Amino acid sequence: MAKILTLTLNPALDLTVRLACLEPGAVNRSETLLTHAAGKGVNVAQVLADLGHNVSVGGFLGAQNPQAFDALIASRGFGDAFIRVPGETRSNIKIAEQDGRVTDINAPGPQVSEQAQEQLLKLIAVIGPEFDAVVVAGSLPRGVSPQWFQGLLETLKDLGLKVALDTSGQALRAGLKAAPWLIKPNTEELADALDCPTQTVAQQALAAERLHAQGVEHVVVSHGADGVNWFSRSAALHATPPKVSVASTVGAGDSLLAGMLHGLLSGEAPEQTLRRATAIAAMAVTQIGFGISDDAQLARLESGVAVRPLTEQ
Ligand SMILES: Nc1ncnc2c1ncn2[C@@H]1O[C@H](COP(=O)(O)OP(=O)(O)OP(=O)(O)O)[C@@H](O)[C@H]1O
Ligand SMILES: [Mg+2]
Repeated sequence: MAKILTLTLNPALDLTVRLACLEPGAVNRSETLLTHAAGKGVNVAQVLADLGHNVSVGGFLGAQNPQAFDALIASRGFGDAFIRVPGETRSNIKIAEQDGRVTDINAPGPQVSEQAQEQLLKLIAVIGPEFDAVVVAGSLPRGVSPQWFQGLLETLKDLGLKVALDTSGQALRAGLKAAPWLIKPNTEELADALDCPTQTVAQQALAAERLHAQGVEHVVVSHGADGVNWFSRSAALHATPPKVSVASTVGAGDSLLAGMLHGLLSGEAPEQTLRRATAIAAMAVTQIGFGISDDAQLARLESGVAVRPLTEQ
């Protein structure tokens, strides 16, 4: 069991609306409406907790509507490393249709002052050394610059933490300069951050080689239902998930990241690490939520994952 901190600088209340088929411009009737505390790091934390790890969650939280987060932190027994900032945590609306399509409408989130950013760095300086690893995931809130974000990752690294990064755009570009231990972009995010094509395995291998040279140990490239390519310094592996019926892909990437961390921090063999992580991600897509609710189902999914070495073409 590892001690892991997840940082979500721009968390969200996810409002998931489930309906048969979205008709834009018409009155749509939802089957269910679920509200829950979310944001990529918060999602990763829940899957890590399901896997038995000791988890703390942190970042910035709107002081005006913390109830859902406070309830989650209490019920899961998470350590609380959130800095409360004036305003409301944003709401992200997810419209999940029967065929698995999800439409996201994401709000920007509160403005985060320099003072609050200082406060987070101070807190991390105190509690950081307790942890084995830190996951930094999701977008940057208003007020947080890519330069500050790079500095945050460098601080975490200087504290001796393994840093796993899952973000996109400017934040990923800035974060890469700090050479995190692990990154989990999807193919588009990787192409955008490195400004190079990443469609083929050979192109991804080239990109990973560049990143390894910069100090990134693990490059985990996800590609939806087509699976995952994992480039470490010593090996390159591909996993194909089993065919599953898709309820919602929300939390798939977060589940994959949690699964990879679990295997790596537990010292599992690479093939098994990737197999389990791919099964956990597949399990997420079979649910409206995500997480490991059924060990027998996870075992069945694991046996349906195909892992093979990646040979460059
Ligand atoms: N339809 C699917 N069937 C099985 N597994 C899936 C499916 N979609 C996604 N996955 C699994 O989830 C992993 C992550 O998915 P994806 O590449 O879409 O992540 P992402 O783009 O980072 O998504 P997000 O950040 O929105 O969760 C994939 O590598 C795959 O293992
Ligand atoms: Mg993602």
